[in-house]
Amino acid sequence: MNIFSALKRYLLVVVEALLCGPSYARFFYWSRNTRILDPDATWDRFTKLENRYIRGLFRHYPPAPMRQLLTTLYPKFRDRVKGIAYHYDISNDFYRLFLDRDYMLYTCADFLSGQDTIEVAQRQKADFILNLIDPQPGERILELGCGWGCMMKLIYEHTGDRDNLSGYTLSVEQKRFIDEAYGFNVELKDVVTTDYAPASWDKIYSIGCMEHVPKNQLLPLAQKLAAAIKPTGHLVHYFFCQMSAAPPAKMLVGGADVFPGVELATWQQHLDTFEQAGLRVAHHSIHDYRPTLRAWFERLVAHQIEAVELVGVRTYNRYLCYLAEAWRLFNDRDLLLMRFVLTRQDAPKVWVSPLYATDRTKSPVAQPEAVLQPA
Ligand SMILES: C[S@@+](CC[C@H](N)C(=O)[O-])C[C@H]1O[C@@H](n2cnc3c(N)ncnc32)[C@H](O)[C@@H]1O
Repeated sequence: MNIFSALKRYLLVVVEALLCGPSYARFFYWSRNTRILDPDATWDRFTKLENRYIRGLFRHYPPAPMRQLLTTLYPKFRDRVKGIAYHYDISNDFYRLFLDRDYMLYTCADFLSGQDTIEVAQRQKADFILNLIDPQPGERILELGCGWGCMMKLIYEHTGDRDNLSGYTLSVEQKRFIDEAYGFNVELKDVVTTDYAPASWDKIYSIGCMEHVPKNQLLPLAQKLAAAIKPTGHLVHYFFCQMSAAPPAKMLVGGADVFPGVELATWQQHLDTFEQAGLRVAHHSIHDYRPTLRAWFERLVAHQIEAVELVGVRTYNRYLCYLAEAWRLFNDRDLLLMRFVLTRQDAPKVWVSPLYATDRTKSPVAQPEAVLQPA
C-alpha cells in the first residue's frame, strides 16, 4: 500500500467514525485493506466482546435519532436493484466456494447437532421449509427471490410438477445458473413492482428475499401477495429483521456496502404489515443464524486462494468481515431470523403444517422422492 492510499484510509476512518460511529468505521477500515486479512484475527476482532466502555461507544454512538436518520437516509443513496447485482452477480463460482455443496442455499441452515456439516444442516432446513410450503402436485407455486434454484428443485423432486412451479429473481447470474442446471421457469422480475394476478397461486414462498424490500414497500407488497394467493393457499415468509428501530451503527454497513439499498424492518413491522394486509399467522418460529455464518466463514477461509483469484482481495476481505460482523449482530440479538406461514383471514379452514402432523406419512419429507428429470 502506498503512502497516499494509507493516508486516505486513516482519514476516512476518522471521518466515518465521527459521522456514522466507530463500529461502522471499523468495518470499512478492515474490509478496505488491500492485504488478505488474517482469519483468526478478523473473527476475534468482530465477534469478541469488547470492554464495556468500547462496547457502550459502539452501541450508542451516534445517538439513536442520528442512527435512525442514517438508517433511513442511507438506502436512498444506494439503488436496491443495482444492489442485487452488486451482491449476487459477483460470481456463481465464488458462492459455490463457501455455500453448501449440495444446495447452494444462501440462507440460515438448521444445525441440529454439533456434528452437522453445512450440507446436512441445509438439508434439514430445506425439509423444514418443505413442510411449511406443503407442496402438492398440480398446485401453482411461486418462489420470490429464488437464489440458485435449489428449493425449487426440492419441490419439483417432491411433486414431479415442473409446469406449475415458478421463481423470480433479480440476479442475472442466478437465472443463468438455474437455466443451465434445471431449466425451471424463472423470470427476472422485481417482486416489489411486479403485478400478481388475484387468487392465482396456491403457495407463495420467500426465503431471505423480503430483507431487500424497502420498509415503505412492505405493506403494498403484502397486500398484493394476500390477494395473489387462493383462499385455500398460503404464504411462507422467511426473513431476518432488526429488533430495534434504531439499531447499532454497525448495522448501517449492511445497507451501505454489503447489501446496498437494504433497509431492514423490525419484526413488529413485519407482523403488523402482514396482518394489516389480511393475513393471519399460522406458524412462526425463530432460528439461530450463527452456526451458518460461522460455517460459511470457515469454508471461505479454506478456499482463500480460489476466492481471491475469482473476486480479488477486497471482496474476499469484505465477505470475511461481513460474515463475522453478522454473527455478532445475531449473537447480540440485534438481528432475528423468523419463519412465518401466513394464511388469508378469509381462509375456509385453518391450515396446519405437516410438521405438526401426528401421522408421519402426511409429512412431505416422509414421502418417496420423484426422480428429477433433466430439463
Ligand atoms: C439471500 S438470497 C436467498 C436465495 C434463496 N431463497 C436461498 O434460500 O438460497 C435473496 C434472493 O432474493 C432475490 N431478490 C432480492 N430482492 C429481489 C427483488 N426485489 N425481486 C426479485 N428477487 C429479489 C435475490 O436475487 C436472491 O435470489
